[in-house]
Amino acid sequence: MLRELVEFLRIPSVSTLPAHDADCRRAAEWVAAELRRLGCREVAFLASDVHPVVWGVGPDVPGAPTLLIYGHYDVQPPDPLGEWVTPPFEPTVRDGKLFARGSADDKGQVFCLLRAIAAAGRPPVNLRFLIEGEEEYGSRVLFDLLRREPERTRADAVLIADMAYVAPRWPAVYTALRGLCYAEISVRTAQSDLHSGEFGGAAPNAHEELVRLLGRLKRPDGKINIPGLYAAVKRPSRAELAAWRKLPFREADFLKQRVRAKRLTGLKGHSVLERLWALPTFEIHGIMGGFTSDGAKTVIPAAATAKVSLRLVPNQKLKTVERQLAAAVKRLAPKYVSASVKFMHGADPAQVRITHPAFRLLDQAFREVVGRGTVPVRAGGSIPVVPALGRSGAPVILTGIGLPDDRLHAPNEKLDLKQLWDGINVFRRFYELLGRGNADARS
Ligand code: BES
Ligand code: MN
Ligand code: MN
Repeated sequence: MLRELVEFLRIPSVSTLPAHDADCRRAAEWVAAELRRLGCREVAFLASDVHPVVWGVGPDVPGAPTLLIYGHYDVQPPDPLGEWVTPPFEPTVRDGKLFARGSADDKGQVFCLLRAIAAAGRPPVNLRFLIEGEEEYGSRVLFDLLRREPERTRADAVLIADMAYVAPRWPAVYTALRGLCYAEISVRTAQSDLHSGEFGGAAPNAHEELVRLLGRLKRPDGKINIPGLYAAVKRPSRAELAAWRKLPFREADFLKQRVRAKRLTGLKGHSVLERLWALPTFEIHGIMGGFTSDGAKTVIPAAATAKVSLRLVPNQKLKTVERQLAAAVKRLAPKYVSASVKFMHGADPAQVRITHPAFRLLDQAFREVVGRGTVPVRAGGSIPVVPALGRSGAPVILTGIGLPDDRLHAPNEKLDLKQLWDGINVFRRFYELLGRGNADARS
């Protein structure tokens, strides 16, 4: 099994880089072959220009509940390459952990869900699959597809394994995901670059204007300076905050082992979990323009661009936040600077009620296999299509077999093999429980 997962992980399916389009296609084909092997009576590439959505329909089991499985075969870029102990697309096992880009996010978890089906020996469940290849840059293709063909999400439950336990031995079920608003902020200060000796002291500098603007968008205390941004933010209930305080999470360990910085930042008066799960963020991802090659060049740049994003929380709306960000940039830029915002992709935040009986079955499966049931938590990350997947009313079960130290999107991403083998047993058991005439699991 490990050999087959390694084969999948070897494919550098980086969706955001056009140079890897053919690799994404190969990863899609790998998924399709796997679905055929599981006996799917229908396997198709949907909306397929570049990164097709792999759609599958399992064997028909009359009267049995329908489960839609969602996952993604694309991965984030692997850079900085120099920091990987072994190359990102040459999966390597060290100390019981499988190191590779995509091992935890999400190829390893997709593999886990699929192998659990084989392990259950064709469970009495009507299976549907939506495994996409654009999750890591906004899921536009799948969004459009689900708008045109919402019936694809018709199911008794949707299962997603694209997250982690909240701590080792503590499986989790997620009640909320943050949304995202990804944008490029550009400024232009002159027609073209200028000699910094001839003009320095009298001409505006695009980088200087951009960093001043970015600096104004967030106050030193962590408060985001975008008018109206916090208006829709729903505070977690007292009960939820109290439950978070009981989780196996220590701020000091989080700083020392996971963040590995000198101190944590963010709004005072809110716990770390509240800052990660229930408050919006503003981050700068990169700044482009000017002279950054080897050597030295004395120039005043005329243009500069920053890639930024905000994370959104219940009940913020992407559309509103886009308007608020554009207005704030316009207001904060001086008159002599032309500033513009280009929106790249985004997602509304997601909220999930975990009252449907299917959640009890997942809890039972984890309890039987790993000795502890699912603890309800939230996620700081985003999965753009989650709100759309739940639109037809099916409960969206968000869980995962990763661990908090898997280093998603970072060098040396890994998946603990024990988590994978346990995970296969957990989901096998979940499919069995769901199929075992648990009529109340049907809506
Ligand atoms: N699997 C993650 C989302 C995630 C990460 C959920 C950690 C819970 C905990 C997903 O693949 C991801 O990285 N999503 C992107 C979406 C974006 C690029 C639109 C994200 O959150 O940055
Ligand atoms: Mn993912
Ligand atoms: Mn990801």
